[in-house]
Amino acid sequence: MSASSVVAQDRLAPPRHVAIVMDGNGRWAKKRFLPRFFGHKAGVDAVVRTIQACIDRDIEFLTVFAFSSENWKRPSDEVSGLMGLVLAAVSRYLGKLDSMGVRVRVIGDRDSIAEKLRQAWDGAEARTAHNTKLTLNVAFNYGGRWDIVQASRKAIAAGVPAHELTEDKLSEFMALAHAPDPDLFIRTGGEVRISNFLLWQVAYTEFVFSDCLWPEFGAQQLDAAIDAFHGRDRRFGGVKDAPNAA
Ligand code: IPE
Ligand code: IPE
Ligand code: MG
Repeated sequence: MSASSVVAQDRLAPPRHVAIVMDGNGRWAKKRFLPRFFGHKAGVDAVVRTIQACIDRDIEFLTVFAFSSENWKRPSDEVSGLMGLVLAAVSRYLGKLDSMGVRVRVIGDRDSIAEKLRQAWDGAEARTAHNTKLTLNVAFNYGGRWDIVQASRKAIAAGVPAHELTEDKLSEFMALAHAPDPDLFIRTGGEVRISNFLLWQVAYTEFVFSDCLWPEFGAQQLDAAIDAFHGRDRRFGGVKDAPNAA
């Protein structure tokens, strides 16, 4: 195979890891004169569609922001509605995800969520631990700053001496230690911000922001984001055309 065809193939390789801020559920519902809850409900269907679309495109890791450490600030009926919806979604879709070969991992602070939900997440992880097709990381009660703090605490508790605390070492304690850093970050809903999602892990991730409201997201929007990703020149701080470039 010639060097140029290797480059062409490499360019079209799918991103290994896609991370998504699923935003816009409330506005989707509002446009339809529905309570916000119905936007979240439609958002669950979009998650299932997107998981399938990722599998179809040989994406290995999908990380979705489902509930942030800051989302507790929402009205209590919305928070409890979301919690109920997540529980219902786990019981409705876990078997399907398992048969699709999805390994579920939940990242976030599990200490301060309801016992029922904690058990549901533990059960989802245990049941799907053997799967290898796609790793689905659900960021739930997750915050990027929380992640850095919890990793630092774990490193200290493990007795890592200060001079051995390198970037690689701390990464071993981060919530996504089992995954490569995201290649592609997508945020739907039109806002152009991170909202405390994966702060540590997105150092060299490519960002795509879309006006599409999350319940309308699917294969077509994913392909548009992947196309944008393929158009990016990832240099990781280096120089692309340097004589000794890899
Ligand atoms: C994202 O949609 C879902 C969660 C944060 C759980 P929003 O609920 O933030 O929708 P908008 O931004 O109000 O439209
Ligand atoms: C980010 O969306 C969190 C999730 C999608 C779970 P938000 O709607 O909470 O973000 P802000 O408030 O617009 O920054
Ligand atoms: Mg929002």
